[in-house]
Amino acid sequence: MATSALLISIISLSLCCIVFAYEPSPLQDFCVANPMMPTRVNGLPCKNPATVEANDFFFSGLHLPGNTSNAVGSRVTPVSVAQLPGLNTLGISMVRIDYAPLGINPPHTHPRATEILTVIQGSLLVGFVTSNPDNRFIATTLKKGDVFVFPVGLIHFQHNVGTKKAVALAALSSQNPGVITIANAVFGSNPNISSDILAKAFQVDKSIVEQIQTKF
Ligand SMILES: *[C@@H]1O[C@H](CO)[C@@H](O)[C@H](O)[C@H]1NC(C)=O
Ligand SMILES: *[C@@H]1O[C@H](CO)[C@@H](O)[C@H](O)[C@H]1NC(C)=O
Repeated sequence: MATSALLISIISLSLCCIVFAYEPSPLQDFCVANPMMPTRVNGLPCKNPATVEANDFFFSGLHLPGNTSNAVGSRVTPVSVAQLPGLNTLGISMVRIDYAPLGINPPHTHPRATEILTVIQGSLLVGFVTSNPDNRFIATTLKKGDVFVFPVGLIHFQHNVGTKKAVALAALSSQNPGVITIANAVFGSNPNISSDILAKAFQVDKSIVEQIQTKF
């Protein structure tokens, strides 16, 4: 008896977590985000459906190139719930990514989304690394029209290997995928992670860690 009760609670606990980790199916047609409301659910509260209009489901501007004049030579233009309130509770969003020649979208992860990407201009080297202990690096080069998927949570990047600019569009399986850029999170946290810890983690001299930290 006790064993089966324990089993049932373990099973229901894991079911609950699967549901919460991946945006559950909406129980209404839509729930246009009302970011002004102070309450927070798993997502944003809904605007009164009677006042919802086409504009709540609309975003304009993805034809515009992003500014890639920065240290990494890329720019992500997001269309997630912050830009398009109609995405609230729907478990989907998209981005445009512009790359300067040789630019990179540096190694990063999306804690809440799988990403499917297609190249619409140029050529990209793309890759991701599997989780421990294998840490397999899986990579390929994409040309215009090719599609690649980055599984949820895994560290991935894109690199423009062409001599001209490149452009990609990607869809993500969350209204709010989140992004953790590895270098910024590890070397540029606020407050910083002690260089003693990072020196040991990366197996390098403290001075090297401190030099990297000054860049973020
Ligand atoms: C692009 O960003 C750079 C660096 O922030 C800035 O100097 C430049 O004016 C921007 N270019 C455009 C077209 O906005
Ligand atoms: C990191 O933080 C410590 C204080 O916690 C500070 O003394 C040190 O200068 C910081 N290092 C960098 C590179 O910002």
